[in-house]
Amino acid sequence: MVAMFQASPTPAVSSIPHHIAIVMDGNGRWATRRYLPRVAGHKKGVDALRACVRHCGERGVKILTVFAFSSENWNRPPEEVSGLMELLAVALSREVPHLKSEGVRIQFIGDRSALSDKVRNGLVQAEAATAANTRLVFNICFNYGGRWDIAQAAAKLAARGEPITEQSLDRAMSLAPQPDPDLLIRTGGEKRISNFLLWQAAYSELYFSDKLWPEFDAAALDAAIADYAQRERRFGKTSQQVQPATKKVA
Ligand code: IPE
Ligand code: IPE
Ligand code: MG
Repeated sequence: MVAMFQASPTPAVSSIPHHIAIVMDGNGRWATRRYLPRVAGHKKGVDALRACVRHCGERGVKILTVFAFSSENWNRPPEEVSGLMELLAVALSREVPHLKSEGVRIQFIGDRSALSDKVRNGLVQAEAATAANTRLVFNICFNYGGRWDIAQAAAKLAARGEPITEQSLDRAMSLAPQPDPDLLIRTGGEKRISNFLLWQAAYSELYFSDKLWPEFDAAALDAAIADYAQRERRFGKTSQQVQPATKKVA
């Protein structure tokens, strides 16, 4: 017997954002509330990120871009900055073999010039080890700032003597040629962009969660995706223009 209805355990493909970007905020508060050092919150944040990458792959998201360390995070206490650098190196050596076998391609986005040789080598190795993967592109923004990104794109064009237009700048941005994020999530309760993807988020749907990043689990990500699925993306047009044409009744 042919089944007339098929149960769908996951949302329909069209309602899944192709590209999700996340400001993973709230690690420090998660730790402080437990009388733990802030770095313990960052470690817990790596666990949440591992689960998030896996869940994005399962849901059919094709690109995940996370904010891991901003241009401004250098202004934190030196022990927290060195703790974050150390954590990145340790997490990469531990996680890359798993990510490689799960079809995840890792890419680092940001200014590498200020990073130590150890951290930089870790990035290069992680990228090389996963370069052939195609299931999910995982962009890690590290020492990244939206203003830096626009400035480096303009500098690249100027050095080549190319005219600066919207299109040429777009092609020179650090995430190019990847499409812009469809959904931008920020955890931790703050409602600001904090110098994340200033250029690329021009038309992203924004979603703010009060959950601290270490608590942002698969169910929370599904809630964000479900919220996204309800949005009407108009890109400057009217609602009528973007709604699918309704059938005329004869
Ligand atoms: C985000 O969590 C992680 C980084 C900025 C590296 P925070 O460390 O900013 O956590 P809160 O905002 O202090 O709770
Ligand atoms: C944004 O979080 C940067 C990252 C998540 C890496 P912050 O905690 O640094 O942002 P502000 O300073 O509260 O705006
Ligand atoms: Mg914060």
